Amino acid sequence: MAPENIHPIFDRLVSRSAREDRLGQHARVLWLTGLSGSGKSTIAEGLEQKLFAAGYFPQVLDGDNIRMGINNNLGFSLADREENIRRIAEVAKLYVNSGLLVISSFISPTRDIRSLAADIIGAGDFLEIFVDTPLDVCESRDVKGLYAKARRGELKGFTGIDSPYEPPTAPFLRIATAGLSVEAAVDQLYAAILPIIHRPTS
Ligand code: ADX
Repeated sequence: MAPENIHPIFDRLVSRSAREDRLGQHARVLWLTGLSGSGKSTIAEGLEQKLFAAGYFPQVLDGDNIRMGINNNLGFSLADREENIRRIAEVAKLYVNSGLLVISSFISPTRDIRSLAADIIGAGDFLEIFVDTPLDVCESRDVKGLYAKARRGELKGFTGIDSPYEPPTAPFLRIATAGLSVEAAVDQLYAAILPIIHRPTS
């Protein structure tokens, strides 16, 4: 809880809607969830490029870089993953209040962890995107060699192997990536969010 001597200063700041007006967009958090190797980060990067090229102002938050900085003291126990996501959701909320389109790319493996993120961000600003790639496909790609390590028992608590992944039950969008190009996945996501984020400039 915040100490009593901390007073919010939001009344004196430039409002979120003035910022959104300037940027010509409705700010949201596009919360990508899925297994390691599901393609979340690649889709996030592609979407960021596409939105930026179209004149919007997006910002990717990604597991592999956030964990090098603000969250470099956290591991992969469920408690640490929850703290990872709690901090990221707080950062995403700050960005959204600056009028930005946040594209977050984290496994965020459990329903509880994702609902914590939605609660922090605010349900109205949180769009859950399930990057649905079957485990065997992620494992056969094994870009970072981590699945092989997990199977050999050299990496404990790996998502999908010996740590849970609970698929979303009612995501805003499910992208079934099997047989889909990155470009097609990005296009699908772009088309779904455009009516929500577009804000005609006055
Ligand atoms: S989350 O579970 O807390 O949301 P996050 O998305 O930040 O995870 O980080 C996932 C990335 O960390 C994976 O893509 C992988 O590169 C790496 N990683 C290292 N150890 C693990 C592990 N035990 N389980 C899952 N991912 C791991």
